[in-house]
Amino acid sequence: MPDTYLLKINKDLEKKDFDRLLCYVSEDKRERILRFHRFEDSQRSLLGDILARYAICKRSGAKNAELVFGLNEYGKPILIKPEGIHFNISHSGEWVACAIDDNPVGIDIEMIKPVDYKISERFFSEKEYLFLMNQPEEMRLKYFYIFWTLKESCIKADGRGLSIPFDSFTIDLDGKGIILQDEKNVLGNKTHSYFEVEIDKYVLSICASK
Ligand SMILES: CC(C)(COP(=O)(O)OP(=O)(O)OC[C@H]1O[C@@H](n2cnc3c(N)ncnc32)[C@H](O)[C@@H]1OP(=O)(O)O)[C@@H](O)C(=O)NCCC(=O)NCCS
Repeated sequence: MPDTYLLKINKDLEKKDFDRLLCYVSEDKRERILRFHRFEDSQRSLLGDILARYAICKRSGAKNAELVFGLNEYGKPILIKPEGIHFNISHSGEWVACAIDDNPVGIDIEMIKPVDYKISERFFSEKEYLFLMNQPEEMRLKYFYIFWTLKESCIKADGRGLSIPFDSFTIDLDGKGIILQDEKNVLGNKTHSYFEVEIDKYVLSICASK
């Protein structure tokens, strides 16, 4: 199982701490962080980067200054140096999460808020939609977010993000555990493992390849 790091933002960073942490990230990332209009978005993005750096340094023994990052063609941050470590970041509300592993990994955290289930008719596969609609009403919202975060973790592990149509594969929660049905082979012939957990008003999912 990938190592997972979670950070809860109980209180906004003070300006001096925000500025100090900014010194630890790359110039490119710093520019992107400062481009957000809302402080909370800048803060989440900065803390995600810091959390990933912490996780990578801990796992590899490398120093922060030695880390070299890049982006794949879909914008997924990847580690170039040291080699052989994969990570992914997600943030929502007051949580920032990072998963780290020896193989590509995807993580997604979402705050549970009321939704219009028409979204699932549009974005989920038919099987997922039917499963959701057959749940008792009090369970349906939680299942919506379980599907959503598991599917996002898949496309984030893959690295192509939302350019993979959300309804092109199915997460099967019907039988034992969490199983991927990928009849169109959109995610390639990889073996995936899934983890899903609820943390107060949030659902967190991880997809680990292999
Ligand atoms: C990444 C993506 C799935 C968004 O997820 P989200 O639930 O809004 O946001 P999350 O908090 O879970 O994840 C954001 C983090 O994912 C990472 N990320 C960005 N692109 C990624 C990708 N293609 N794959 C995996 N991770 C990605 C980044 O670390 C990002 O953090 P940052 O914004 O602070 O740099 C979505 O923006 C995406 O698919 N982007 C790729 C671009 C793309 O294909 N666009 C097509 C639009 S149709």
